[in-house]
Amino acid sequence: MNKGYFGSFGGMFIPEILQETFRRLIEAYEAARADPEFWQEYLSLMENYSGRPTPLTFAENLSRQYNTRVYLKREDLNQTGAHKANNVMGQGLLVKRMGKRRVIAETGAGQHGVATATMAARLGLECVIYMGAEDVDRQRPNVFWMEQLGATVVPVTAGSRTLKDAINEALRDWVGSMDDTHYVLGTACGAHPFPEMVAWFQSIIGEEARAQILKLEGRLPTHIYACVGGGSNALGIFQAFLPETRVELIGVEAGGKGNQLGQHAARLAFEGGKVGVAHGYKTFFLQNSDGQMRDTHSVAAGLDYVGVSPILAHLHQEGRVRFEAATDGEVVAALKELMAQEGIIAALESSHAVAGALRELPDLADDSLVIINLSGRGDKDIFTIADALDDAKWRGFIQHKAAHYAAMDSESNR
Ligand SMILES: Cc1ncc(COP(=O)(O)O)c(C=O)c1O
Repeated sequence: MNKGYFGSFGGMFIPEILQETFRRLIEAYEAARADPEFWQEYLSLMENYSGRPTPLTFAENLSRQYNTRVYLKREDLNQTGAHKANNVMGQGLLVKRMGKRRVIAETGAGQHGVATATMAARLGLECVIYMGAEDVDRQRPNVFWMEQLGATVVPVTAGSRTLKDAINEALRDWVGSMDDTHYVLGTACGAHPFPEMVAWFQSIIGEEARAQILKLEGRLPTHIYACVGGGSNALGIFQAFLPETRVELIGVEAGGKGNQLGQHAARLAFEGGKVGVAHGYKTFFLQNSDGQMRDTHSVAAGLDYVGVSPILAHLHQEGRVRFEAATDGEVVAALKELMAQEGIIAALESSHAVAGALRELPDLADDSLVIINLSGRGDKDIFTIADALDDAKWRGFIQHKAAHYAAMDSESNR
């Protein structure tokens, strides 16, 4: 098979000027992959810094209610609260190996930016994060943390001032800085070797889950649910179970407000995506008939991406992974149920996986064994969740804070 291709998806659609940088990256990645000491160093860092292995928590109350054994893989317990840590720390070690001293990344909601800034601080690297100016305004708490961690956040004012403009700006930076800079991609997308490399670092999730479920239950799960933005947490848990065809793998995309183009980010479940080439690779993108990328919508900023991992596109075409979509409403209801039943505050992204599972649990056979991948924790979503739940006390708190700052400003202007 052609390197970097998964069926007909993937590839390396990059400008001539980046060819040499990618050649060196592929070389470093392949050498690291062939070196068991590199993986040991990675495991040790993840154990000592990020708290791995993350637990596989038995969801006792949900299991009782649905008469099915349900487990949660707790990626929310990682450093910075999500599976993103697995990927950025892995790429950070690779950066050290390549002898580079600077990292750049682009981020939409800011989670990947915070994770990258954390890694850069820990490994002593200079860090620049590109973010659409619109997103900088919307995601102030994450911008605050990136800056406190020592990163420079560059608000991108071009175009629609969102993620896709930030990607263009980050690529422009890379073209001029590739000798000493690595571009830390946040998910299993983009040009080769990123999809394969990110999936490799994330495979730690499934390797752990497989050993844990065998130890706890003495058998493999029957169903595994994971949310799908770019696809890194889903591939992370799915990979260890791919050869076990009796294990059903279910990817849950953002159904947003419904199945009309522009209202969701479900590239595969709604069959709304069309095959195309963008952002350096070939996959299903949400686009209109003349190939223009469409705007997407999801209550979860991290699932709001027009493309999907080429590895998942291939597994979809092969029929190995089933894709479903959960609407914003179902997701908020699922999060409420998880909090009430298990005392766990999941990220809105992860709540898509929970919603997908809750929809199907009543119809599963009694001897089913379910794992839900909880990719991240929900503290970061407090503004969105409070809005979605229309929490009046939270609104009062924000108004109070705003009045307090306004009073401070007018005092200092006097
Ligand atoms: C908690 C969480 N889960 C899932 C995702 C989606 O990314 P992926 O599909 O690459 O796992 C994100 C992205 O920001 C996230 O923050």
